[in-house]
Amino acid sequence: MAAGSWQDFDTLESFIARQQRLYPHSRGKFSDILRRIGLGSKIIASKVRMAGLVDVLGKQGTSNVQGEEQMKLDVIANQIIKSVLGWVTSVAAIASEEDEKITILHHYEEIKEDQYVVFYDPVDGSSNIDVNVSVGTIFSIYRYPYNQPRPPLERYLLPGSQQVAAGYVVYGSSAMFVYTTGQGVHGFTLDPEIGEFVLSHENIRTPDVCTYYSANDTYYPQWSEAVRKFSDTLRFSDEPRYAKTTCRYVGSLVADFHRNLLGGGVFMYPENPSAPHGKLRLLYECAPLAMIAEQAGGKASTGRERILDVQPSDVHQRVPFFVGCRQDIELYEQLVRQMDAG
Ligand code: AHG
Ligand code: MN
Ligand code: MN
Repeated sequence: MAAGSWQDFDTLESFIARQQRLYPHSRGKFSDILRRIGLGSKIIASKVRMAGLVDVLGKQGTSNVQGEEQMKLDVIANQIIKSVLGWVTSVAAIASEEDEKITILHHYEEIKEDQYVVFYDPVDGSSNIDVNVSVGTIFSIYRYPYNQPRPPLERYLLPGSQQVAAGYVVYGSSAMFVYTTGQGVHGFTLDPEIGEFVLSHENIRTPDVCTYYSANDTYYPQWSEAVRKFSDTLRFSDEPRYAKTTCRYVGSLVADFHRNLLGGGVFMYPENPSAPHGKLRLLYECAPLAMIAEQAGGKASTGRERILDVQPSDVHQRVPFFVGCRQDIELYEQLVRQMDAG
């Protein structure tokens, strides 16, 4: 059969079904959630693609719980994700960057089967939507087991190491759905002609090359000594590893992360005096991307702790975020230890 014919490509749907067969006792509830997030992403992709033509540009005129000005697309995408997940009875609850609290969807004590909790950032990098720069959606899925003691849903906050799946969609030159369930990282490109995400990047591994340095250097004067030393090394060192490192910073975490995942490098959003825990949120930005990074051979750290080990205390908790090639993130952790040792 000629390559590229319809029989030999995998779609997100068929790939999920194939992965589900690895779990013979699975009843497909978890696969349903992934498929619904795929559907929601296609709907958001259609809004993003026509952003200049339909009424999704500009500010909503409201602020979210973070005190951040909401873009129209933030609100629309939040509603899209809620509605596609609202139909899945195995989703006990959802938590969004745009909502103050966890929303209980389908949780009834009599349900005698595992359910799930989905954390998500409906539009990441939304300030870029009006200027046609790539934005994204990030999601993280935890299991809510029925047959063992568990905290009430409203406080169901677990370390990222407990995620059963994590992923993002980057709405760029094409829309790509990238996710992991702990069996490697796989990327699917949306074919608008057939309306399906088609497998285009199976088993993504981040190259061990520090190609890109991604940070907002305007905060440099406020960074700690360790962050400044790390930044200086990546940008100015003539060590062979960093001699060709170049700066790329889009201001959309998903776009910056995706480029570095494929090309190699470091993304960092450090703490600074005005943001003592950094800007990025643990549960629906850092932890899902940390799971992807580690599954692709990279590393993600606060500088003092593995991101996936951080025990959340609040839905919107922020953490300093350093993610990318293992060797480079370990260099930063070493600089922090030296700084802490005085
Ligand atoms: P969001 O649009 O979901 O609030 O996320 C924006 C984040 C992230 O996408 C990006 O890396 C960061 O904000 C950029 O922050 P600065 O403008 O401070 O660099
Ligand atoms: Mn975001
Ligand atoms: Mn957002």
